[in-house]
This record gives sequence, C-alpha cells and structure tokens, in this order.
Amino acid sequence: MPTFTPLHRDLTFLSPLSEARAARLVGFLTEDEPSTVLDVGCGWGELLLRVLEAAPAARGFGVDLDEDAIAGAHRHAVDRGLSDRATFEATDAREVTGTYGAVTCIGSSQIWGPSVEEAQPLDYAAALTALRSLLPRGGRLVYGEGIWSATPTPAATAPLSGRDDEFIRLGALVDLAKSHGFAVTAAHEADQDEWDVFESGFAAGYARWLVEHDADDPDADEVRTLAARQHTAYFEGYRGILGLAYLQLVAV
Ligand SMILES: C[S@@+](CC[C@H](N)C(=O)[O-])C[C@H]1O[C@@H](n2cnc3c(N)ncnc32)[C@H](O)[C@@H]1O
Repeated sequence: MPTFTPLHRDLTFLSPLSEARAARLVGFLTEDEPSTVLDVGCGWGELLLRVLEAAPAARGFGVDLDEDAIAGAHRHAVDRGLSDRATFEATDAREVTGTYGAVTCIGSSQIWGPSVEEAQPLDYAAALTALRSLLPRGGRLVYGEGIWSATPTPAATAPLSGRDDEFIRLGALVDLAKSHGFAVTAAHEADQDEWDVFESGFAAGYARWLVEHDADDPDADEVRTLAARQHTAYFEGYRGILGLAYLQLVAV
C-alpha cells in the first residue's frame, strides 16, 4: 500500500473553502460571543481553532472519527496556545449531546445518514434535525453541505453514487433548513476556484509520491491509477456540477 503525505500538508481545510469565506464564517459564528463551540466532523480542526482565536472567551469541542486528524488538531491547538480551550476527541459525532452556543458542520452531514457505500441520497433532514437539537434558540450554525450546482450528468454522477437524486439544489436546501427550525441569514456556495484548490490538494499527494519514487516502484502503477481516476472523476465528471453550499443559520 503506498503511503501519501497527510492532506493537511496541501490543504488548509478538508473542504472547498477559501480564506475569505472562512473569515466570513468565523465572523458569523463569533458575533454573539458564544461560550461554547462545537465542530462535528472537524477534521484537523482548522476552522474551530480560528473560531477560538476570534472568540477568546469560548471553549471549543471538535469531534471526528479520524484519529490521525484529531491528533493533528490537538497538535495545532498546542502550537497556537489554544489547548486549554480546545478539546478534540476521536469519537462518533452521533454520540455528542448537550447544547452549544455555536456549531459548525462542514461536509460532514453524512454522519447522520446512510453510509457512503450504500449509495443513497444524502439525508439532509436527519442532519438538520440532529444539528438543531445541539443548539438553543438563537444558537448559530454554519452548515456546509453537498448540493448540485448544475443539473447532474451521467459523467458527473458515475464517480459519486451514480444517482441524480444524491443531492438537491441550493434553493431546496435553504427551504429544508427553514422547515427544520432555522432562520437562514446567508446562503452561498463554493466557487470554482475553491473547488479547484480542494481537488488539487488530493492531486498534489499523488504527484508528490510520483516525484519521490522511481517510475518502476512496485506501487507506482497503483498510484498512477489512483491519480488518473481522481483526474477523470473531477475534470471529466463533476467539476462545476457537484457543489458545496454554505448556510449561515440561526436556531429559532
Ligand atoms: C469532508 S470532511 C470535513 C472536515 C472538516 N469539517 C473541514 O471542513 O475541514 C468530513 C469529516 O467527517 C468525519 N466523519 C465522518 N463520519 C463521522 C462520524 N460518524 N463522527 C465524526 N466524524 C465523522 C470524517 O472523518 C471527515 O474528517
């Protein structure tokens, strides 16, 4: 099995998210000076750490199943002098209870639906219901969620679940959020540059491996195949069609 450099070497966030948009989301989450902030599916915790930097009185809790990502999040918290206010746990986010002044869930709503292997439509309603239960009235949620940015084509759905109904459009997602106990204060979606940067982060890992190993390395064919598959899935498939919505929500 080839080993790749950790994704956080090439990506700031494990989602299509620019610096400008991240700053906007952090501003929204911290405007009311929450005392507690939860990040479900936090990855290596970059957004939560930025929230804590912007809200010096807040305590943060990040959960993710990925133990390496959680170890990285903890290291970053120590390096940035935030470890007394940031707790990261490698645990299933479905087990998290209680309420938090602010919650962020970006690209992680599959936590509450069927597993990716089951190739079912994304269960937006289950995610919104679970997230609403973690917030008091007035609590703020940043909800980053997969959508169709354009009508899906067979080439776009093939490397995903193969279904046209896997995702919905931005307007339908806004309606769903409203019917699950949220006021929608902003709804936008990742742009092409954010997506290109995100996908390039994966491609960079393959490219670096190929630069650092001989062309006849026993794993080289497998790495070339993985790289080609990712290239085709994106450039000939879902580029410009798979989207990521960012909703700024307030619990009502
Ligand atoms: C697309 S990544 C998003 C990471 C992060 N929110 C970001 O934007 O950088 C989705 C994350 O959800 C995590 N995840 C999936 N199922 C989970 C579960 N049941 N409980 C906690 N985390 C989960 C994955 O390990 C992964 O790190």
